[in-house]
Amino acid sequence: MKVPLIKTSLPGPKASEFIRADAEFVSPSYTRIYPLVVEKARGLWVQDVDGNRFLDFTAGIAVNSTGHCHPEVVEAIREQAGDLIHMSGTDFYYRSQIVLAKKLAEIAHMTGGARVFFGNSGAEAVEASFKLARYHTRREQMIAFFGAFHGRTMGALSLSASKAYQKKYYHPFVPGVTHAPYPNCYHCPQGACYPTCGSACVRWIEDPLFRTSIPPEEVAAIFVEPIQGEGGYIVPPPEFHAELSKLAKKYGILLVADEIQSGMGRTGKMFAMEHFGVEPDVIALAKGIASGMPLGAMIANTELMDWHAGSHASTFGGNPISCRAALVTIDLLQKGLIENAEIRGRQLMAGLQEMQKGFECMGDVRGKGLMVGVELVKDRITKQSAPDLRDLMVQSAFHSGLLLLGCGESTIRFCPALTISAEEIDTGLSIFEETLRKLAG
Ligand SMILES: Cc1ncc(COP(=O)(O)O)c(C=O)c1O
Repeated sequence: MKVPLIKTSLPGPKASEFIRADAEFVSPSYTRIYPLVVEKARGLWVQDVDGNRFLDFTAGIAVNSTGHCHPEVVEAIREQAGDLIHMSGTDFYYRSQIVLAKKLAEIAHMTGGARVFFGNSGAEAVEASFKLARYHTRREQMIAFFGAFHGRTMGALSLSASKAYQKKYYHPFVPGVTHAPYPNCYHCPQGACYPTCGSACVRWIEDPLFRTSIPPEEVAAIFVEPIQGEGGYIVPPPEFHAELSKLAKKYGILLVADEIQSGMGRTGKMFAMEHFGVEPDVIALAKGIASGMPLGAMIANTELMDWHAGSHASTFGGNPISCRAALVTIDLLQKGLIENAEIRGRQLMAGLQEMQKGFECMGDVRGKGLMVGVELVKDRITKQSAPDLRDLMVQSAFHSGLLLLGCGESTIRFCPALTISAEEIDTGLSIFEETLRKLAG
């Protein structure tokens, strides 16, 4: 069985050299969590430039859905690079983009069919959704949620309301965006209790929002993450999305599901919205769609795709290599990885829930499939967040060879590749438990 192997101090000598150069030449806007300088990676395992080996529970921020450098993905990339690297789908046709669009339209199962727009990132998929919603409805207003993260370009950032520092000094934003409370039942924004709240978060949109300040007939779209990612891996109650969808339909508002983090099999279904039995009008995708190749996609119901030629495009969007990588990724997901995400997710969740019994600081353990969060708190009565402990945990786990990431105020997210094995889950759990014992035992 493979285990992490840390043979130098961290960062090691070569990593330290790169980090010094990075500090001189690379934009300081990136949030580097720990001093990991990656040389190569395979499956769940990452090797740094000094030869240290880490177990990766981040998958490059929920991107490497099929594991690092899956041989079938690598083969498809190699083959495609030998045939055609770029031709620009904005102006020319090529096979892989068309085949992938057909595949995405199929897996979206939208009533009446779907068509696909390609970009290079999550933010671009969200921008496309924003523009299509305005174009199709001729309405200006958008609703998104507190805690949401939709990306960093100006439209996507206008929809985001996750951390104020991400928006600092960038005002004014795109006008017409209003944020509503997201149903975080562990810290109910309405001070209510589930289920007696009766979907108070959805009701809030109708009253007071629509009653007092935004006429619903001026709202183009509601943007929602089926499970909030960056905001803290927050799973809404089972009926939330169905109620939201009902409200949207009542007023002719489009429902845009941002599945950029929750999609592509991560939660044990191809799209997380399937857990909630809701068919959105638009799905925004990126991250896990092409196993690490840059690709964003907006899947929209065919009847919405009424924009004219030239109204939106992106030179690199739907690049042939990314499209080939996505086709292999989807094939691997359908041939067992979605199922594995569900099974290994249950194992991970059960292990964390068992661990929770022994640690007061593990306030909430939540998630679906391999999108799992552990919210750390000072104690379970006050539920006061423990961001310092969370940050220490992430640092300390790194030094023990386990790569983790935070999200929300004091949550640790577990988003490993969907190829993860039972042994790898156990190894991650035992390092996590040891680290907790050291810091909070
Ligand atoms: C839910 C969600 N939407 C959008 C984005 C933005 O994606 P990108 O960084 O590829 O622009 C992210 C990235 O973390 C995300 O998690």
